[in-house]
Amino acid sequence: MNDPSKLERSRIVHLLQADQSPGSVLVKGWVRTKRDAKGFSFIEINDGSCLANIQVVADETLSNYATIRKMTTGSALSLSGRMVPSRGQGQRWEIKAESVTLVGHAPEAYPLQKKRHSDEFLRTIAHLRPRTNKYGAAFRIRSQLALAIHRFFQDRGFHYIHTPILTASDCEGAGEMFRVTTLAPGDAAVANDFFGVNAYLTVSGQLEAEMLALALGDVYTFGPTFRAENSNTRRHAAEFWMVEPEMAFCDLAQDMVLAEALLQHLAGHVMDHCAADLSLFARFVDKELMHRLAALVEKPFFRVPYADAIAILERSARPFEHPVAHGNDLQAEHERYLVEHHFKGPVIVYDFPKEIKPFYMRMNDDGCTVASMDVLVAGIGEIIGGSQREERYDMLRRRIESIPLAPENYWWYMESRQYGSVPHSGFGLGFERLVMMVTGITNIRDVIPFPRTPKNIAF
Ligand code: 4AD
Repeated sequence: MNDPSKLERSRIVHLLQADQSPGSVLVKGWVRTKRDAKGFSFIEINDGSCLANIQVVADETLSNYATIRKMTTGSALSLSGRMVPSRGQGQRWEIKAESVTLVGHAPEAYPLQKKRHSDEFLRTIAHLRPRTNKYGAAFRIRSQLALAIHRFFQDRGFHYIHTPILTASDCEGAGEMFRVTTLAPGDAAVANDFFGVNAYLTVSGQLEAEMLALALGDVYTFGPTFRAENSNTRRHAAEFWMVEPEMAFCDLAQDMVLAEALLQHLAGHVMDHCAADLSLFARFVDKELMHRLAALVEKPFFRVPYADAIAILERSARPFEHPVAHGNDLQAEHERYLVEHHFKGPVIVYDFPKEIKPFYMRMNDDGCTVASMDVLVAGIGEIIGGSQREERYDMLRRRIESIPLAPENYWWYMESRQYGSVPHSGFGLGFERLVMMVTGITNIRDVIPFPRTPKNIAF
């Protein structure tokens, strides 16, 4: 018998990719199913490295076979054995167990028995749902996307910067910030704010990223952001991750080119690197997924000024729930009409009226619109929001003073416009919406391991 301590730990993903018998293997994972026959058992085990399970054959020659027969779905085990050709259908290899150790028992009450569970039910067991095929695949794709984001920017010479989570300034000026308080020692009562001054959880790292872009050229930040909006929709979370590039000497047109290239790169990356996990979503979640991703990678995005987008919506004569009018922001239903019915592909809407956009966006020569853009994709609507920033000191000052923001909190931001100010642009890509886009998952609660939406904080 093999001595397990002398074996390298094998991951199922590598065993299956090798497509040849690597001889002795040591696998650690969780039982998905078990079938018992006379004198032997088939155990399907998954170790989280990929969608596939590997079949293990354990027979009565094992000294603890009586224990093995009692193993149930969800139990954790460690086993060593030899890879041998399988006679089972749909698999070339299986493991003939030489030693099986029950690491952690799962009782019959284990909630993830072999049957389909609804997303609603699985949300109530967020601590266990990563063990299902769908959520395991979603979280592996999430990990791959994070890697691909860094690759994309690093390959283009961008610097990865870290912007603060605690902040005094409201980047979006929408007042949707969570305020931070300090607990008194040994007491749950609120004592003060951030050492006597007000502090909030950041809604965006943009303002700080701008300062770094004005020193390092091209930068990006990628971190958690928070919004205190009480939105119970399938695309809003109170805590989400945002990818925010910021480029010095860059205008809105170049910003759009980068946004398009980023989404195309990320969709292409998951198609190339997550084929098995994606196939699950293409089969069970969204039959159009592969077709849509391929089209997104290949075809240029449409570009349309806001005013034209409104005209298209008006001409559609659709009974929208929210009225379409010049000056109103686009609602999810409008965005989806543009993408899914009118253009039938991703669209970049640009040059929005200044009244519905934040203070930092650059005023266009018409004095009415700002150099802004929203990238809209099927099934989600807005996935990216960005702009060319107002680099002119006087213009910026007037905008800040015209809205209910405390200008004293922005002195440092304004000062950057007095010392070697340059045209610069950037955008924010919602990371969760990106995961939704590439998997076809329709609810943001299902692409975050522990989602934070209104009232959802128990675990
Ligand atoms: O359009 P937003 O609010 O833009 C900003 O915060 C800019 N400061 C970004 C920048 O230019 N650096 O948000 C950007 C993106 C949205 O397009 C959306 O994908 C995502 O962030 N997002 C959310 N995702 C999940 N839940 C929410 N509540 C979100 N709010 C925005």
